[in-house]
Amino acid sequence: MLKVDSLHADIGGSQILRGVSLECGPGEVACLMGRNGVGKTTTLKSIMGLRDIRSGALFLEGQNLQGLAPDARARLGIGYVPQGRDIFPHMTVEENLRIGYVANGSRIANVKAALERIYALFPVLKEMLGRKGGVLSGGQQQQLAIGRALLTGPKLLILDEPTEGIQPSIIEEIGETIKLLRSSEKLSILLVEQYVDFCREVGDRYVAMDRGAVVSSGPIGALTDEVVKVHLQV
Ligand SMILES: Nc1ncnc2c1ncn2[C@@H]1O[C@H](COP(=O)(O)OP(=O)(O)OP(=O)(O)O)[C@@H](O)[C@H]1O
Ligand SMILES: [Mg+2]
Repeated sequence: MLKVDSLHADIGGSQILRGVSLECGPGEVACLMGRNGVGKTTTLKSIMGLRDIRSGALFLEGQNLQGLAPDARARLGIGYVPQGRDIFPHMTVEENLRIGYVANGSRIANVKAALERIYALFPVLKEMLGRKGGVLSGGQQQQLAIGRALLTGPKLLILDEPTEGIQPSIIEEIGETIKLLRSSEKLSILLVEQYVDFCREVGDRYVAMDRGAVVSSGPIGALTDEVVKVHLQV
């Protein structure tokens, strides 16, 4: 589904990514892990076309993404939920959701059915359709951001630290949602996540980053305590 080959990227003259490679297969949950500041978000932004890369290659279903703007990448089927969620606080839940499908309407054949599916996944959103995004709790905002991204009709969903700053019961809900999207919708998911237990729960494979480089990767079952201790534990 997604292949990232040896990305190098600089920000303000410093090397931020030093050869990041990763893959996410069809229907797979790939966890991109690492401590604060190692380059996880920069990797995702590079995949989305929100950040320039110095070298490296990116492919979605074999198609080269080089030179494509973020909106073109979204139309090819990448849904992106940024870190911090980025919902529109002064717009209602309904308006926030609408941005998902108008932004990318052509991929969704039946908007009504797609909305019902979102409400089934996140019943709380249906209850809050008329409320402003800004009054929602962190967990509800995360659900809204995921719902909005799903309404673009993605093949690959990219989530940047969806559990950050969210209470445990909602974290569990988000974990269940990820598992459901993978199993029932065969969605591929690239998940940036610092909670090792969460990755072990929902992930198929992992990629561990440290200081801009991949230091270990493989099936999630092969993630050793040693790697966790040396590269992931805070
Ligand atoms: N706009 C920017 N200007 C300057 N430096 C930046 C910018 N964005 C990121 N960096 C630097 O690039 C490095 C990687 O940042 P990035 O946001 O990719 O890390 P991260 O792994 O996502 O961290 P976190 O877990 O805190 O979200 C950090 O050292 C950060 O300070
Ligand atoms: Mg980040």
